[in-house]
Amino acid sequence: MSAENGYGMDNPYRPERATVLNVQLEAGGGRPIKTLKVQIDDEKIRKDFHHKPGQFLIASCLGVGESVFAINSAPNSDGILEFSAMKVGNVTTRLHELAPGDSLGIRGPFGNSFPVEDWKGKNIVFIGAGIGVSPVRSVYDYVIAPENRKDYGDVTIIYGARTPADLVYKTEFKALEERDDLDVWLCIDWQFGPQGPIEASSAGGWPAINMGSPGDTEIPVGVNKFTCFVPQLVEVVKPSPENTIVVTCGPPIAIKFISIILSKLGFTDEQVYTTLENRMKCGIGKCGRCNIGHIYVCKQGPVFTNKEVKKMLPEF
Ligand SMILES: Cc1cc2nc3c(=O)[nH]c(=O)nc-3n(C[C@H](O)[C@H](O)[C@H](O)COP(=O)(O)OP(=O)(O)OC[C@H]3O[C@@H](n4cnc5c(N)ncnc54)[C@H](O)[C@@H]3O)c2cc1C
Ligand code: FES
Repeated sequence: MSAENGYGMDNPYRPERATVLNVQLEAGGGRPIKTLKVQIDDEKIRKDFHHKPGQFLIASCLGVGESVFAINSAPNSDGILEFSAMKVGNVTTRLHELAPGDSLGIRGPFGNSFPVEDWKGKNIVFIGAGIGVSPVRSVYDYVIAPENRKDYGDVTIIYGARTPADLVYKTEFKALEERDDLDVWLCIDWQFGPQGPIEASSAGGWPAINMGSPGDTEIPVGVNKFTCFVPQLVEVVKPSPENTIVVTCGPPIAIKFISIILSKLGFTDEQVYTTLENRMKCGIGKCGRCNIGHIYVCKQGPVFTNKEVKKMLPEF
């Protein structure tokens, strides 16, 4: 199989040995997130591993198992790959224990990708909720790379997490906020106490939006961080649907409400792309673990338009 078919390896079931180059703790708390930078050891396989924005890899730890992760570094030719793992179970706990120099297995790249070439000349709005910002990162990194930025119109990034401590890629976001060729909007969730919502802004200093009518919120000049949920932040930012594509990823409940707001703003389901995270095993359309009807999410996805998702999942 060739890299053009989506696999950088001649046997897509065989994990290739890779070495951890760097580990970055992105967020602490009960479900910490780490970004691992890894490089496949074999020079030839490394060169053949050409991923596209939106594709995923399968990482394995000896004696523990395999798990699926969005590749969140922009495509490159040096075989260096990054992915961010939230510690939720066996494999992710082991991955969190790895240090530079340690080995792991990598298979991939798998799945389809975001059609970034077709989007040239368009404005792009990226919306990430929680760890869902990870798959979105490879796409915005591609679009805003110096060699590609001129091919796209306005770029807006909207991202939210539960608390300031849960926001990932903090250093990168600081640098993105300083760029004048894109708009960055961030939020942290309302926290709920026994009496109802408490403004988490008291912790982060981020003004709360008008909960009852987010679209009417006055945006103070120079403020781009708010206390609200991501769908409400989208309502505050009000991206225009004119010649615009939206890339969105997050927990299903967040995506559902983001989609409702986007259609309220005039976006069609064809303009909105998302990436599904169904349970997977083989990653190549053989085992039947990930399918929804006759669609294999690992092969025909994980990237779909909202129109395609609604056909597969009418409740979406
Ligand atoms: C295409 C795709 C891309 C993904 N990208 C990322 C990513 O970039 N970063 C990241 O942290 N995670 C990502 N995931 C989810 C990740 O694969 C799971 O969290 C991981 O497999 C859990 O492995 P584990 O052995 O640590 O957990 P397990 O010990 O297997 O399970 C622990 C807990 O995690 C839950 N879980 C297991 N698999 C999934 C899953 N696929 N989705 C939701 N919950 C699950 C289990 O129900 C259980 O509650 C992605 C999944 C897919 C399919
Ligand atoms: S994961 Fe095996 S068919 Fe999709």
